[in-house]
This record gives sequence, structure tokens and C-alpha cells, in this order.
Amino acid sequence: MKRVFSGIQPSGEAHLGNYAGALKNWVRLQDEYECIYCVVDYHAVTQPYESAELPGKTLDMATSLLAAGIDPEKATLFVQSAVPEHTELAWLFNCVTPLGELERMTQFKDKSARNRKNITAGLLDYPVLQAADIMLYKAEYVPVGEDQVQHLELSREIVRRFNTRYGDVFPEPQPILSTAKRILGLDGQAKMSKSIGNTLPMLATAEEIWDGLKTGVTCSKRVRLKDPGEPDECNIFTIHKTFTPEEKQMELATACREASIGCFDCKKVLAANIDETMAPIRERYLELKGKPEVVREVLAAGAARCRSIAGEVLAEARAAMGFFK
Ligand code: TYM
Repeated sequence: MKRVFSGIQPSGEAHLGNYAGALKNWVRLQDEYECIYCVVDYHAVTQPYESAELPGKTLDMATSLLAAGIDPEKATLFVQSAVPEHTELAWLFNCVTPLGELERMTQFKDKSARNRKNITAGLLDYPVLQAADIMLYKAEYVPVGEDQVQHLELSREIVRRFNTRYGDVFPEPQPILSTAKRILGLDGQAKMSKSIGNTLPMLATAEEIWDGLKTGVTCSKRVRLKDPGEPDECNIFTIHKTFTPEEKQMELATACREASIGCFDCKKVLAANIDETMAPIRERYLELKGKPEVVREVLAAGAARCRSIAGEVLAEARAAMGFFK
């Protein structure tokens, strides 16, 4: 079975963008691939954060992932810092990564523009650690949102440079994108993002979902109720793609283009469908939240398994690079 790897930062609550862009695929792929999923806490410390809150947020993200449907019988779930080999492979990869490639990464530019006073080497190096995450398990497929495609292109570049210099050690990883690969925040401006704070949390209650959605910006063509809209330009319609059955989506798209349905009613359908998917996830989350020892056990077993794979792959990379044994 081919291997899949992906990660999520424990920097805040998972949101609908994470779910639609990545997590729904993580769950689906468990049946077809050997999947390894990671709470990437080493990545989370590349931006300002509260150290006292990190352990709780890490456990909470793992709890949310299990609630969303990651099944420890099928997939491996672990916390990145429990497998320190990630940082060693990142160092090896640093030495084949051109500085200019890192400086032109969109996320680095965006994040450093938001926080000019504290641009760290870690933030610049973020995509190299990401390449190491994937390659430590020689994973070939990486389910992510569109914002990560550029990082994956860089991962492939790093692999090519490593393999050219030291021999064919690593495969080139490919992204797996969802139909909702880029969800905007409810303001309809920027990507929905924990660090921007424009999110609709994955575990929001039905009331919170509606409170968020009802203010959500729709396609700019619909100024008045009788103006026909364009679903392909509507963030609300993009979210429908994850939560609404295809037939109903088509019906809503036609009605929007004919202006026979208003945005308010279209949002009502969406709110009900999100709640239908999320209510059982919320319930599982609350149940697991009361049993942290169960989550800890899953993470410990995951880390043990990952350490053994990572150790072998790292040894291969070290040998290829000529380190003394
Ligand atoms: P993070 O935590 O920022 O995001 C986790 C996943 O959610 C996707 N995503 C979105 N998809 C659609 N619309 C959005 N608004 C949206 N916001 C987030 C992200 O693309 C991501 O798939 N750098 C990674 C974490 C990482 C990783 C890895 C991923 C570290 N190492 C190795 C894959 C493989 C990240 O963006 O996390």
C-alpha cells in the first residue's frame, strides 16, 4: 500500500477550512492507503505562542482529529515532537535547499508581513521541516489544502536536489486536493485561517454555525435579491461542496443563477447540512475529551511506530550523505 502523510498545527481549534480542505480527505484516504497523520507542534512554534497552552492545544487537536474520524485501527496518529528525527532530517535537507526558494514562499511572505518584528529563522525554514515530515516516511501522497501546494512543490525540489547529489533515496510527493481546496474566511477576503482569526470552528454548535454563516459574504454579483448570482465565485457555495449532496448542490447553483433562491435560504440549507455532518463529530469530541488517557495511548502507539520507520529512513539518508558510523 502506498503511503500518505499529512499534518496540522495545534495552533488553535480546527476550522471548517481545515475540515473541507484536508481532514475530510484524511478520513477518506484511510481505507485506500497506509496513512500517517501528525499534529505538527514543531511547526506551531514558528510563530508567537503561549508555551503553557501548547500541551493542551496539542492534545485537543489530536482529540478533534479522532472525533473527525481518524481511526487508529486504520491510520497512525502522533505528535511531531515525539519523533525528534523530524528535526534531524530537516537539518540534512537544509543543506540542499537554496535560500532564495525559501524567501519566495507565499506563506513566509504573508506571515512575516503580519509580524515584522519577529521574523525567525524557524519561520523561514518551515517548509524544509515540512519536506522532512513527509520524507521521513517516504510518503508519496499528501492531502492538503491549496495553500500548501507551493510548499509541496518545494518538497519535490528538495527531494530532486537530494537524490541528484546523494543517490535515489526519496520519492517525489504529490498533493491530494479536495473539491473545496480553498475556503475563504466569512469576510470573503482572506483564506480561512487560525492565524487570521476569521474562522468558523469545526466544533461550533448549530447556533454558532448559523451566527457565522448568516454574516458570511457571498458572490459580489448578488447585490439585490433579483440579481442572478455566480456560485463558482461564492465562498458559501464552495463550502456547500463539502457538506451538501451533489444533486442538491446542482439545484442550488441553478436557483442562484436564476435568482429564484436568496442567499439567506441558501445559507440555511448549508447550516443544516454542516450541522448534520458535525453534530456526531462534536459528540465524539466531547466523549473523548472526558477520556484523555485514550487519546494519549493512541498518540504513544503512533509515535512508537513512527520512530521505528523514521529511524530507518534517517539512517539511509545519513549513510547516503557519508556520515561517520
Ligand atoms: P495548517 O494547520 O495550517 O492546516 C492544516 C490543513 O488545512 C488546510 N487548510 C485549508 N484548506 C482549505 N481552505 C482553508 N481556508 C484552509 N486552511 C487550512 C491546509 O492546507 C492543511 O492541509 N503546513 C501545514 C502543516 C504541515 C504539513 C506537513 C502538511 C506540516 N508538515 C507535512 C502536510 C505534510 C499546514 O498548513 O497546517
